[in-house]
Amino acid sequence: MKNYNETLQQLLNFGLDISQIKDIDFLLEKILTEARNFTNCDAGTIYVKDGNILAARYSQNDTTNTQLSPHRKSVYTNIIVRVDNTSIAGYVAATGNQLNIPDVYHLDKNLPYSFNRSFDDMTNYRTVSQLVLPLTSMRGETVGVLQLINAKDSTGGITPFDSHDESGISYFAVTAANAIERAKMTREIILRMNRMAELRDPKETGPHVNRVAAYSVALYEGWAASKELNQEEIDRNRDILRMAAMLHDVGKVAISDNILKKPGKFTPEEYDVMKLHTVYGARLFPDIYSELDESAAAVALNHHERWDGNGYPGHISLATLKPLPGYEKEDGTARGKKGEEIPLFGRIVAIADVYDALSNRRCYKEAWDQSAVLEELKKDAGTAFDPELVDIFLDSIETIRQISSQFPDYTDA
Ligand code: C2E
Ligand code: SIN
Ligand code: SIN
Ligand code: SIN
Ligand code: FE
Ligand code: FE
Repeated sequence: MKNYNETLQQLLNFGLDISQIKDIDFLLEKILTEARNFTNCDAGTIYVKDGNILAARYSQNDTTNTQLSPHRKSVYTNIIVRVDNTSIAGYVAATGNQLNIPDVYHLDKNLPYSFNRSFDDMTNYRTVSQLVLPLTSMRGETVGVLQLINAKDSTGGITPFDSHDESGISYFAVTAANAIERAKMTREIILRMNRMAELRDPKETGPHVNRVAAYSVALYEGWAASKELNQEEIDRNRDILRMAAMLHDVGKVAISDNILKKPGKFTPEEYDVMKLHTVYGARLFPDIYSELDESAAAVALNHHERWDGNGYPGHISLATLKPLPGYEKEDGTARGKKGEEIPLFGRIVAIADVYDALSNRRCYKEAWDQSAVLEELKKDAGTAFDPELVDIFLDSIETIRQISSQFPDYTDA
């Protein structure tokens, strides 16, 4: 057994870390890693409950040497278990009881659940011991299951899970459950905001935001690959960027219909009003509660800045709309953000947004030919856009076209 101080320190460190991590996928990976360290076990899976179904969301296995996130498809992430008494994980989710099973191949025949060996057969793995806990939130709701597999003794041999670890590990389960619930709520709020924006402007919002989000993720992936970022960070950022990009124009909900839906060119005054959609969007995320809010605010605010510094809204105060001290131009307006002053996600969404706006019909313009759109992007590299990102975007153009066909504009019916 570990000594008490060591255990407490491990738990405290875990709690601190968790409070800094808000994105659900990254969080689940962290929880699984820490819970496996704590119990010294070979493998584990976190299931997230969705109605009557438990879906394996994250799996790790040191023997088969797999570390799989939900983004990377595999047999592990396709495991789905019904929430009922017939399987081990299903029983734990259905009853809220935890199980400490010394050997899953020697279960009492009178128990309602049995071990599903098809997973072992598929992967040539031999499951022996399991410690399986419900992830129960503060509100008493079971949001998932933590399944730890094959505890190891000091020589690496498989043993049953130490019953002393059961209470310690329940701390991980509670923390995990509350974090999952919080992440689900944040996500729900964001999707609701998006539906709200779509109600305002159904013709141009729905498919546009989905395409811009997917293009942005594709562009980010290309960029991340060129920077050789680690997969963990890529997975986490991809999810955050997708959500943030979906909300890039959410500030348009504050723009009046006669401007938003004007079936023709803006006057300069109308354009000035429309430009405020960046600020209105950023103001919807005033407090930095999470990386997601922070990124959503950054994308809303910066997606119309230009690489050459001639974009909008520039270095202004969100509260007063006045230039920040030191950033006034001679005419009293704010200097635009320039180059890498513009956050990466803003530079990415700028390209995705303009590509999409040019490629499709709008209430104020016709769709452009693909060749003209690509010419425009090339011409704008280094002026409107980060030239490195334009190159990566053009290299990914097959993927981009595929995404485009997945989210067609609604047609007038
Ligand atoms: P949006 O339709 O999503 O367009 C995003 C951006 O794509 C535009 O940002 C602009 O940079 C680029 N873009 C769109 N169409 C063209 C084009 O024909 N030529 C060129 N060179 N670039 C184009 P921008 O200009 O800051 O506009 C922001 C938003 O304001 C637009 O979002 C749209 O909702 C609205 N908007 C802009 N101009 C007009 C207009 O003349 N009439 C109306 N009704 N809406 C406009
Ligand atoms: C079960 O809990 O029996 C299903 C998941 C697994 O095969 O480990
Ligand atoms: C404008 O200059 O009015 C906005 C962009 C465009 O429609 O070309
Ligand atoms: C931008 O305003 O960010 C780009 C517009 C352009 O195509 O020049
Ligand atoms: Fe915009
Ligand atoms: Fe847009």
